[in-house]
Amino acid sequence: MNNSASEQKWKWWPLLPLYPYGRRRTIFRELVPNQIWSFEQLQGIYYVAVPVRLLVIRVKNELMIINPLPPTSELLKEIDLLQKKIGPVKTIVLPTASGLEHKIGLPALARAFPNAKIWLCPGQWSFPFQLPFDWLGIPSNRTNILLADGFPHGDDCEWISLGPIDIGLARFQEISCFHKPTKSLLVTDALVGIEATPPELFNLDPTPLLFHSREKGSEELIDSPIARRKGWLRLVLFASYLKPEKLEIPKIKEILENSFKPKMRNKRSHFGIYPFAWQEGWDLSAKKLVGEKTPLIQIAPVIERLVFPRGKKAFISWLNKIESLKGISFLISAHYSGKVRFTTNEIRALKVKIDNSNWEKTQGDFKFLSWFDQKLLNFGIVPKNPLKKFSD
Ligand SMILES: [Fe+2]
Repeated sequence: MNNSASEQKWKWWPLLPLYPYGRRRTIFRELVPNQIWSFEQLQGIYYVAVPVRLLVIRVKNELMIINPLPPTSELLKEIDLLQKKIGPVKTIVLPTASGLEHKIGLPALARAFPNAKIWLCPGQWSFPFQLPFDWLGIPSNRTNILLADGFPHGDDCEWISLGPIDIGLARFQEISCFHKPTKSLLVTDALVGIEATPPELFNLDPTPLLFHSREKGSEELIDSPIARRKGWLRLVLFASYLKPEKLEIPKIKEILENSFKPKMRNKRSHFGIYPFAWQEGWDLSAKKLVGEKTPLIQIAPVIERLVFPRGKKAFISWLNKIESLKGISFLISAHYSGKVRFTTNEIRALKVKIDNSNWEKTQGDFKFLSWFDQKLLNFGIVPKNPLKKFSD
């Protein structure tokens, strides 16, 4: 293993076996000079990988981490440089109750910063049993619960809860942070900004983009800017709708006919197995999700359709609170694009878009998510009124 590979090693990957498994490359960027830094890694299934972000925020002469990620030596080395420049990491915040991809790195991150206080979104759950924090590797003697125990750094940060929403087996909730010195709203899954060009993170290894840019399994993975962009748009469609309208699954016979061709007999090409057939018009669907010049701000369709179908009121109430934040200027989300312009103008435009469209969409690209939601509802896995449980 060369030096960078050993620094990118994540030995706990079997706990949540997501691509790229045991090797997590990290991209480090300064989002707001001297104030906010972003660390991005890829996470996904079957090469459907999107960036997941950890933020380091300067709070006076110390640092706060929001949204943990697997702390590889590469990632810790960069944070250490920030500690030398600004001050120690004294706070780690996990602001979501449901997003597993944000939780999985917390125990190792907590061990890496033994003097940091940990703040958790209320309603943390473990599956299949509810286990005590210490059993999950979260040290209870330095752990606080947001809302119940107050909030960290009240001078610099305003914390706004989205939810809780009862999603049957668990709850959805996230506590967004408005960082006043930079006028930035830091969210986890509530909103994302997506752009048409693939994120920089794929420059380290464009394989997921090239894999999905093809039409069948016998095609080689050939790198070009057009293939990368095409692959990216398809990844966005997968991540947004799980099964987009213009995607069909070919018959097994057809898949096998195109598999195991001489040049494709390798792990990187999944041995030529490619169970997808994109239909004409897929690119028009993708273009509705991405911004050409600037990232398109939106509620991720999978969240909108599976978390909020009967919880519009909770989302709008959160958005109204966000709109009233004095001087709000930027959105920094834990997925997709980093810093995106987000003033009251963008917030109002989003509200108009929500008002003018059907909230519980059932057709087109939303067909599969809608079917899935209906199944969960029919089996009694999700409640008819997700706000009732927490209304008192
Ligand atoms: Fe997430």
